[in-house]
Amino acid sequence: MRARCCAWPRSCWPARLVTPNRPAASARHRGPACPVSAGPWGTVSRPVRRSACSVLIRGGTSSVGLAAAALATWRGATVLSTSRQAGRLALLKERGVDHPLLDTGQVAPAVRELYPGGVDAALDLVGTPTLPDTLRSVRVHGTACFGGSLSNQWTIRDFSPNEYLPKGVRLSGYSGDAADLPQQAFQEILDAVAAGQLAFPVDRVYDGLEQVPRAHDDMEHDRAAGKLVVRVRHSPATSPRL
Ligand SMILES: NC(=O)c1ccc[n+]([C@@H]2O[C@H](COP(=O)([O-])OP(=O)(O)OC[C@H]3O[C@@H](n4cnc5c(N)ncnc54)[C@H](OP(=O)(O)O)[C@@H]3O)[C@@H](O)[C@H]2O)c1
Repeated sequence: MRARCCAWPRSCWPARLVTPNRPAASARHRGPACPVSAGPWGTVSRPVRRSACSVLIRGGTSSVGLAAAALATWRGATVLSTSRQAGRLALLKERGVDHPLLDTGQVAPAVRELYPGGVDAALDLVGTPTLPDTLRSVRVHGTACFGGSLSNQWTIRDFSPNEYLPKGVRLSGYSGDAADLPQQAFQEILDAVAAGQLAFPVDRVYDGLEQVPRAHDDMEHDRAAGKLVVRVRHSPATSPRL
């Protein structure tokens, strides 16, 4: 079975990737929310179960990292988030991050200055090069989630649990799709977006399919911080109302 998608109204998608929702939010709201919700939700919803929780996001200026920060803040967490570029720390602050951190490869000491016992939860999107340091940032009985690999390094050679994992710190992983985002949770996200309580950052909008190479070039060269959107113009008769 296949269905249409609100972000790409003319496309046809496997039904398992489609989550029904009430039209509380307009298509303008739903469009950016659809592609950024499932991954960030899957990675932050389990560790960030209660308010007053502290969460570290590694790879914080990625579109997934920014969406995860938005969701975590919306759920009442205090967010620490990283960029390798000092010039992007102000952007993280603007996007609601409580503690922007410069990622030099080691952020655990800076995290421990803020939270001497370690943070409650961490989401690592950079990959296995930073994962040991991310684990060292987490408190006993806290959880670090391996949610992606911007470094493109996915494996741990000669994994020895007792040496790799700090005592009492949990390591989890997440990789999934729309099926992991419960309908009710997605509806709550859409309602919050429509009410202006939650926003998913769009870095820039490109007009027309001919701009796709430029969008890819910007993405490949890390010029963007947030989602890139390509707006396609349709003839007025068939244009979806966004
Ligand atoms: N678990 C899931 O279901 C799921 C779903 C979707 C995506 N993901 C994963 O989430 C990650 C983020 O994807 P995205 O599309 O949001 O990325 P993106 O927007 O293209 O992020 C690019 C940014 O990542 C930062 N970064 C940090 N360390 C990096 C490194 N070693 N190499 C390159 N960039 C680095 C850079 O920012 P600074 O220069 O500011 O540090 C860069 O500007 C990917 O690993 C992807 O596989 C997971």
